[in-house]
Amino acid sequence: MDQFKSKVAPVDGRLAVLLPGMGAVATTFIAGVEAVKAGLSQPIGSLTQMAHIRLGKRSEKRWAMIKDLVPLAKLDDLVFGGWDPIPDDAYTAAAKAKVLSPEHLAQLQPSLSQIKPMAAVFDKNVVKRLEGANVKRGTKRELANQLMQDIRGFMDKNKCTRAVMVWCASTEAYQQPGPEHQSIAAFEKALDADHPNIYPSQLYAYAAIMSGVPYMNGAPNMSCDFPALVQLAEKRGVAIAGKDFKTGQTLMKTIIAPGLKARMLGMEGWFSTNILGNRDGEVLDDPANFKTKEVSKLSVLEQILEPERYPELYKDLQHKVSIHYYKPRGDNKEGWDNIDIVGWMGYPMQIKVNFLCRDSILAAPIVLDLALFSDFAHRAGMKGIQEWLSFYYKSPMAAAGLQPEHDLFIQQTKLKNTLRHLMGEEQITHLGLEYYQS
Ligand SMILES: NC(=O)c1ccc[n+]([C@@H]2O[C@H](COP(=O)([O-])OP(=O)(O)OC[C@H]3O[C@@H](n4cnc5c(N)ncnc54)[C@H](O)[C@@H]3O)[C@@H](O)[C@H]2O)c1
Repeated sequence: MDQFKSKVAPVDGRLAVLLPGMGAVATTFIAGVEAVKAGLSQPIGSLTQMAHIRLGKRSEKRWAMIKDLVPLAKLDDLVFGGWDPIPDDAYTAAAKAKVLSPEHLAQLQPSLSQIKPMAAVFDKNVVKRLEGANVKRGTKRELANQLMQDIRGFMDKNKCTRAVMVWCASTEAYQQPGPEHQSIAAFEKALDADHPNIYPSQLYAYAAIMSGVPYMNGAPNMSCDFPALVQLAEKRGVAIAGKDFKTGQTLMKTIIAPGLKARMLGMEGWFSTNILGNRDGEVLDDPANFKTKEVSKLSVLEQILEPERYPELYKDLQHKVSIHYYKPRGDNKEGWDNIDIVGWMGYPMQIKVNFLCRDSILAAPIVLDLALFSDFAHRAGMKGIQEWLSFYYKSPMAAAGLQPEHDLFIQQTKLKNTLRHLMGEEQITHLGLEYYQS
């Protein structure tokens, strides 16, 4: 088993964490890392920083922190950069996002105010509700080249040995893959033809993959989840994953639904609605952008409950999701869920969930874990879709023809077993019969 362990390249030098989109999520993530480094805070919500992992049999009593088992970049070695059409530095952007208190931000101002976004590849046709002057000009091919120059320039300037990219920018309008997304050749031809179906996030993903930089998509829009970029990632040996950070209401869904199904309880309906008032909410108020989010959120229940396998329990399930932009609520989203479940002899019951969550507070540790794990995956020689990172996503990518796994606990087992596998440790099956055999 040590054959895998020996293949993981060591962590040496600094890691560039490149963030297209430096709004609420990205700045809360950076601020949190700086706060942890300064001893002001704990990295709550992050597996890479806080979780333990069991190794070997229970009788061995061997536990390690994930960060001690797996060679991950240290927080002190992260260097943050990014792009945004709005030219605010990270301190100003964080202050405007109003996720963190002014007292917290004041302590972090010296480091945050130094981080200024590079000019973005931005297309107003894809994100209608935003305006921004900090944008690049050129054809799509030229824009992709400029992004590759930015990546190289940032790494050189900051003396980084490696980089990862995590898309934290606004959700783009809904799009289905077209002929130009089907192969590397078709995609590159479309780039040269300046084709309107090549959206900005796809240019960032292309530039990252071409630069040997892992690409993680935090939004629900189609960015690296189509044949051309999956093939390119495999060809160039680059890790990719997506999409849509699993926070808030969908996190709850993937915690509760597997439990109800495990007990073979039926379900007639799940009605979800929420209000939020941040810039993300404003962008999602446009029907084209909301459609992207809706598709991502709706797929979850069906795949967990498998109505085709359990028609008696879930055949008539009605699943509704709505998001309302309501300015006073800011980043502190409120979500309501009404779940109509059915028990023994068909008797109905209801579950109500009222989650007063903080969107970016839940998303920030996901950005950290994806940055560190994707860098680790790259050093371990993993390429293409990283299904073991599904744990972090609402709409996880999986190999063609495979159903993605949505159950949070199966996702967690997959993640931990992948880490054990890569570090030459035994897989844990939870069978446990050996404790009872004489
Ligand atoms: N917070 C959560 O819980 C959560 C969960 C899942 C997904 N997401 C997604 O994460 C993304 C970020 O959320 P947020 O709350 O930080 O939003 P935000 O509006 O605060 O920040 C997004 C930033 O992206 C910038 N941007 C837009 N297009 C860009 C481009 N082409 N290149 C570079 N920058 C661009 C915007 O100017 C803005 O500053 C959104 O797509 C959101 O849907 C967030």
